[in-house]
Formats: sequence, structure tokens, C-alpha cells
Amino acid sequence: MFCYRLTAGRVRAVIRAVKGTRDLLPPTTALWNHVEAVCREVFRRYNYQEIRTPILEDVSLFVRSVGEETDIVTKEMYTFVDRDGSQLALRPECTASVIRAYIEHRLDQRPGLQKLYYMGPMFRRERPQKGRYRQFYQIGAECIGSESPWIDAELIELVVRVLEALELRDFQLLLNSVGCRDCRPAYLQVLRRALQPVASRMCVNCQRRAETNPLRVLDCKVEADQAVIEQLPTILDHLCDRCREHFALVQRLLEDRQISFQIQPRLVRGLDYYTRTTFEITHGALGAQNAIAGGGRYDGLAEELGAKQPAPGIGFSIGEDRLVLVLETLLTKQGRSLEPALDLFIAPVGEEAVAEAARLASRLRRQSLAVEVGYGGKLKRLLELAHRLGARHTVIVGEDELRQGRLTLRQMDSGEQIQVTEAELLDRLARRSFNAAESASRLLG
Ligand code: HAM
Repeated sequence: MFCYRLTAGRVRAVIRAVKGTRDLLPPTTALWNHVEAVCREVFRRYNYQEIRTPILEDVSLFVRSVGEETDIVTKEMYTFVDRDGSQLALRPECTASVIRAYIEHRLDQRPGLQKLYYMGPMFRRERPQKGRYRQFYQIGAECIGSESPWIDAELIELVVRVLEALELRDFQLLLNSVGCRDCRPAYLQVLRRALQPVASRMCVNCQRRAETNPLRVLDCKVEADQAVIEQLPTILDHLCDRCREHFALVQRLLEDRQISFQIQPRLVRGLDYYTRTTFEITHGALGAQNAIAGGGRYDGLAEELGAKQPAPGIGFSIGEDRLVLVLETLLTKQGRSLEPALDLFIAPVGEEAVAEAARLASRLRRQSLAVEVGYGGKLKRLLELAHRLGARHTVIVGEDELRQGRLTLRQMDSGEQIQVTEAELLDRLARRSFNAAESASRLLG
């Protein structure tokens, strides 16, 4: 985290961002904002409302929900003992927090289903690599209060619409059912039996999980174990009638919506709370960390966290870092720039013009134009700067212009200059102004 630099004869440690965390810088932050604006617009259309939960939670929340045997809880959670002795964690995910808040605030008393979305940082102490960070961001949604397969299909449709609205193509939707409390115990017995003769050939974690939580074996990423995992019985062959019907209907409803998917019988996901439908969305441009979103149903989680009434639910989280990475790669390939448009650069020439330029900038900004003023410097330098900042136009404010009450408007790409009044300037530029919400809804059609 430190490196040393010599300043004025003294060696000072340079402090860098903590391993696995990173600064998000412009112009990429514009893409983050765009992704978030598009998501908010899609959430609005599906009647989801925002929830903001704390980043700090009680450790036991994740132990009870995500599961004691999961990698997230055993290896990856950032935990500490607070001064009063309470055990706290930086949230590794947000579904558990949403359900905690749902119970704590009696959201079941509100009318209809609770459809909640969130955006924010999560923390997992994983080995950092491209697309995998220790502080990463998720955009997620949870629909609580129904076990209907129609809700599963609507939620999956929502994720797909987000990705389409962001012009993302070539993603794969992987789908599975992990059964319910009725049928899973019998399957786990079958799985345990199948693991007995082969577990010794697997990694040490799988050897332990074969006993403690055999479903987690299916989630193992160790290359050498994959051949064994391929041969293990799958849950799809052991679903009860209700789970089988539920899964069949989800598939039919996705087909009705022309959403293509691939059944992946070993997709169990790395969290213990799932029941029935589970899914992941992957994209080839990402390499090893190819999942851009994951989700599933979690009937029974609310009761596990103390709810008196059942509150079945389903949700998903998009990995925003990974989504932005894919979009950035695609935009670069298409030669599209991320730099936000600067509508106008104002180049004042002379002391008197500076004050006028500042007043003009202030008026134009109130008309929602993005304006930069070059305070000081020769005109040639200011025009170079305007060019480098990607301004579409520059207005030159000099003594002549001030005397005549007119401005010189320079079109930056052609170099063409014309004289305009302020009203004419506004008329020319106003058509090009936009805001994030408008741009998102224009994109969505
Ligand atoms: P998850 O699969 O653990 O699910 O995470 C969802 C997404 O977050 C992943 O597909 C990935 O894109 C991103 N992600 C996870 N870990 C990292 C990391 N270390 N660095 C960068 N991105 C990462 C959940 O978290 C569940 N809460 C999803 C859910 C919501 N299920 C029901 N509702």
C-alpha cells in the first residue's frame, strides 16, 4: 500500500488505495452514472422503489442467511469487534439486509408486493483480479411477498431489459432450480452417497463440504474437481412435483417473452438461502469472472431471519463493476467516446472580458448547458484547451465583442466562426443539451 518518494530531501510514503479497492475516475464514472440512470428507469417501469440499508450489519445476519459453510462467510467477510463488543461486518451482499429491513420495519403491512431496489458497495476479501474486487458495487432488486412463478419470470425479464437498454448483446442466461425444503433433503442424501466414494479425490474444501454441506461441492471452482462434479446426480432429477411445475412454468413464461436461456443443472450459486429458481447471466468479454448478474428465489429466508409470517421472495444483483467493464470494452471497440459533452467553452480575451465571461457562463448554466470558462491565458492557448476538453463550441469574448454586444461563436470541428447575440447562442446550443434521466428514457425508447 505504500511506496516511497523523495520530496525536498525527505522520503515520504505515498498512500495508495487499499488492495482490491479502486478509485473510479472520469470519464468512466459517466458510464457508471449512465448504467445507474438506465437501471432506475427500468426499475420505475416495473414498480420497484429504492431502499438504502447500512453498509455495517451484525455478522450473524450473514451467517444465518448466506450460510455458515459458504466461502463468503468462512473466508471473505470483513468482520471486526466494535468497542462495545458487538461483532460487525461490512456487508458482502444486500439481500439479507433488505430482508432484515423488511422484517424490522414491518413492510409486510404495506399494500401489495414489496419491490425494492438498491445500488451500492459490497465487500468480500477475495483474491483481486480483473472483474473481482474486495470493494465492488451491486445494483440489485428484491421482490418480496409472492411465490408465484409469474414473479420469477417478471424479475428475470427486468434484468434482461436492463441489459438490452444498455445495448448489451451476447449475454447468456443460465437457469436452474435448486428445489425446496420438501425435496432438497432427499437430494442431499443422494448427493452425499454419490460423494462418498469420490470425495477423497477432490480438494480439501470439497472433502469437508461432502459431509457438512454437499450442495456447495457443486459450486467448487477447482479445475481438477470438475470431472468428478460432472458425474454427480443433479437436483433437477430429484425435484418434487410442485418444484417441477414451478420450474416448468418459469421456463414457459420466459419463452413467451422470447427470452432465451440455458438450463444449467449444477448452478447452485454460492449462497445458501436459495430455493427453486436460480439464475446467472454471463458475458464472454469478461474472461474468468464472467458472471455479470446472479439471483434466485429465497422462500424461507425471512422466517430464518425471524419473520413471523412467511415472506417468499426472489431477487438478483448485477455486478456493476463487471457490467461497466463489458460496456467499456464494447464502446471502445465501436470507437465511441465516454467523454461527456462539453457544450461550450468561453474564452475571454482581456481583463474586462473575464467578468463578462463569468456572468455569461452563469446564465448559460442556468439553461442547463455544460460550460467551462478559460480564466486567463492567450487566445491560442485557450482554443487549444477548448479542443482538448472536447468542447463542441467556443465563444470568444473580447473587447470588440463587448463593444458590439455580440459574441464570436466558433464551431470547434470546422473552425467556422460567426457573430451571434446571446439569444441566438442559446437557441443554437439549447437543442443539444440533455440530462441523464432524459438520455436514459430516450435510450429505452
Ligand atoms: P452473487 O452471485 O454473490 O449474488 O453476486 C452477484 C454479482 O455480483 C455477481 O454475478 C458479480 O457480477 C458481482 N460480484 C460478486 N463478487 C464480486 C467481486 N468480488 N468483485 C466484483 N463483482 C462481484 C448475490 O450477491 C446475491 N445477493 C444476489 C441475489 C439478490 N440473489 C437474490 N437476490
